[in-house]
Amino acid sequence: MKIKNVVIIGAGAMGSGIAQIAVMAGYNVTLVDIKDEYIAKGMSSIEKGLNKLEEKGKLKGTSAAALIGNVNTTTDLAKAAKNADFCLEAVIENMDVKKQVFKTLGENVPKHCILASNTSSMSISEIAVASGREEQVCGVHFFNPAPLMRLVEIIKGEKTSDVTVAVARSWSYSLPCLKGKRYCPIVLKDRPGFIANRVNAPTMILMQWAIDKCAEKGIPFEQLDTDAFNPMSPMGPLVLTDYVGLDIAFHTMQYYVKTLHPDFAPGKVITEYVEKGQLGMKTEKGLFEWPKGKKPILERTKKANLFTVEELYAIQANESCRLLEEGVVKDWTTIDKTMDAGYNAPGPMAFLVDGNREKWPKLLNELADKTGREYLRPCELMKSSAYRELRVVK
Ligand code: CAA
Ligand code: NAD
Repeated sequence: MKIKNVVIIGAGAMGSGIAQIAVMAGYNVTLVDIKDEYIAKGMSSIEKGLNKLEEKGKLKGTSAAALIGNVNTTTDLAKAAKNADFCLEAVIENMDVKKQVFKTLGENVPKHCILASNTSSMSISEIAVASGREEQVCGVHFFNPAPLMRLVEIIKGEKTSDVTVAVARSWSYSLPCLKGKRYCPIVLKDRPGFIANRVNAPTMILMQWAIDKCAEKGIPFEQLDTDAFNPMSPMGPLVLTDYVGLDIAFHTMQYYVKTLHPDFAPGKVITEYVEKGQLGMKTEKGLFEWPKGKKPILERTKKANLFTVEELYAIQANESCRLLEEGVVKDWTTIDKTMDAGYNAPGPMAFLVDGNREKWPKLLNELADKTGREYLRPCELMKSSAYRELRVVK
């Protein structure tokens, strides 16, 4: 199937980044949002990215102006859908809003069109039902910032056809990545958070506990980020939450409460910040200050001593074992490669496999006792250490 016309719905951080690389790959792009001012903000970010590449001489045989000219914009989704070959939804992380978008798409796109969602965590199968064409819907999950991060997870919903998966995957591979080579693994089961976000998910349980503890005791949040400091990771978990958006983290946790475990409930601090619109980088203030979107410079002089980097790896490894138990992925080598491509940081499983097998379940039980969060206890595969055999050796 030849894809020419691509419609991106949502002109925010993700939609604008994906529109930029889609137009760079030669597609005719239509960017859709609900208000002209949101479209203007998205277009200005695309323009900034393309101008930067032009200055560096990295736009071969074209110009930023010519590429910008290939991006159409509209607030009329139904009209934009009429000529679409491929639609990618990147609206806010809210199931009802996503379903409404997919309903409109289902009613208006041509028969052959593939529909994809960039949701961070939500069920592709449920979103797909709203479109009335479930075989042609799948998850195409980019990481932030989409032009720079290598990972795109391709998620198969319950009724997604193999053709849809193949087309979505080859489309994802066709988009340029400004830092390295794209990696687009197929997620075998439509489970909350897919692979990379799911592995990271229970670290959010620990963070909610620790952030609220800091607030209670008057400990600055930067000391928590120092607890988590890992030279192999470009951003600590707190800075990353601000970068992604506290609203995205909040809605994702609420979704995990419904679909995984009550321990995922957002803490007091995050709830309060989201209620008052203090959402992180995009509002220049979250857990930290982001003046003009600039990354906060943290003083790493003192720790809060509420957790260790080793404990974070243990939590991620335990969740990786749950993904193997659930059949979301068949081997842990893929999990580590996915984490590396999605977060530019090493995945947890190589550490687990090389370490002392009794140590990790013990550590996780101690963590569950310390925080009162039962979800952090070791799962069966982690306790058995049979995960060692589930690897791909090349
Ligand atoms: N177009 C063109 N150029 C761009 C660009 C764009 N859209 N965006 C950035 N650039 C350029 C910058 O201008 C910069 O150019 P110069 O070096 O000439 O100044 C260059 O690319 C590199 O940018 P940075 O200096 O910002 O790069 P960095 O080395 O500091 O790396 C980073 C930035 C890649 C974001 C790095 O900090 C990182 O890997 N952070 C972790 C990000 C992460 O974990 N993302 C995943 C979040 S979770 C998620 O996304 C899933 C979900 O569902 C929530
Ligand atoms: P954002 O808040 O920056 O942008 C969302 C955009 O969607 C806004 O401009 C909003 O006006 C628009 N929108 C809302 N309802 C709409 C509708 N009915 N039709 C058209 N546009 C509509 O959000 P984001 O960070 O770009 O995230 C978008 C999606 O991508 C979410 O599902 C999120 O979970 C996922 N995601 C986010 C990140 C991240 O780090 N921010 C990473 C990967 C995936």
